[in-house]
Amino acid sequence: MRERVDAVEPLVPDFYHYDDAPIADVRVGDDGLILEWPDGQTLSCHRFWLRENTLGYGGIDLATREGLMDPAELSDSMQIGSFALTPAGDLTIVWAPDGVESVYHSGWLRHVVEGQHLPQSWLPAPEAWTAQTLTSPPRCQATAVLEDDGALCDLLNHLLRVGVCVVERAPTEPGFLNELAARIGPVRDSNFGLLWDVKADVNLAGDAKTNTTANTGLRLGPHTDLPTREIPPGFQFLHCLINEADGGESTLTDGAALVEELKATHPRDYEILSTRRWVFFNRGPGIDHRFSAPVIDTLGGEGIPTIRAFYPVRAFPDMPDAEVADAYAALRRFHELADEPRFELTFRLGSGEIMCFDNRRVMHGRKAFSGSGQRHLQGVYIDRDEILSRARAVNRGRAASPISSSPH
Ligand SMILES: [Fe+2]
Repeated sequence: MRERVDAVEPLVPDFYHYDDAPIADVRVGDDGLILEWPDGQTLSCHRFWLRENTLGYGGIDLATREGLMDPAELSDSMQIGSFALTPAGDLTIVWAPDGVESVYHSGWLRHVVEGQHLPQSWLPAPEAWTAQTLTSPPRCQATAVLEDDGALCDLLNHLLRVGVCVVERAPTEPGFLNELAARIGPVRDSNFGLLWDVKADVNLAGDAKTNTTANTGLRLGPHTDLPTREIPPGFQFLHCLINEADGGESTLTDGAALVEELKATHPRDYEILSTRRWVFFNRGPGIDHRFSAPVIDTLGGEGIPTIRAFYPVRAFPDMPDAEVADAYAALRRFHELADEPRFELTFRLGSGEIMCFDNRRVMHGRKAFSGSGQRHLQGVYIDRDEILSRARAVNRGRAASPISSSPH
């Protein structure tokens, strides 16, 4: 690392280290300053944003590195009195009328130019896949994921890129998922519990003792869990403890690929599926979860939509009567596509293997059982926010280490 010209490196509004990126020029902009680097890149900084990001003096708290300034405190009289570049290429401002002096680290300012402050930074971009382009799920070793941040980083990057990864060679003791989850973040609870069991018994089909289709020997078509929630669980981890049953292969289908296919070949169906609502209803003694949303739910944002596709809990159309027939036609098209072998990755989950996938993007399913035998899985959910947070941290840690590689 190059020596700084200044003896003291300015503090930054977070806890990361930034390499110096000396600013070449600073000039007055529209109600703020415009910074320019030697490569011609510029950053326009509003004066209020600069003031909010002053370390101390009621700006950024030195202990928490969070902003302290209530927007009501921002005043028209708060002006940039003077500004300059230090010998190291950092920005300094003396504020009028209170004389507060702010120093901004050039590397921290540059990271904004590079877009490294945005939510999608430090993360791999999603890649839609079919059974032709992804012939088997990526795999990671359980021990490595527990002990090595590089292996954890690989797991999280697989989950964010293709939405799928199998962690193999895990112990077959119940509760191991808690250990794996502790490496990532808090587990998401539901009425099935923090750590839930899927004990499929081929003789249980039609038996009233189970509260979910998952606990029968029936085929489970491609679906996503808990569409009855406003935000369904982000990622699902299914740990296979015992799999002695004949049949019961696992299937995974990339919802992102289905959406791409629908948009390209049946845009009207896509439009219907992404706008017409259904009431999803989780029926059970003492519980009454329900939510009304489209099957392809963009949640008002960009990026890969959330697929709400668990037909056992899709209960009522929530749209004008005249639109129901078209909505059913579009729904049939969507599920026919999901059932096509070209989209469906099929494999047998063996004991000691953990199938990890993006529950809001990738549809999972199970073939029917034949014959007899036990099959015992345990599952946990971890929300997308937790996966994203940990992935950014470990990708950033990996980039800062001597042997670095990009999240791609
Ligand atoms: Fe499921």
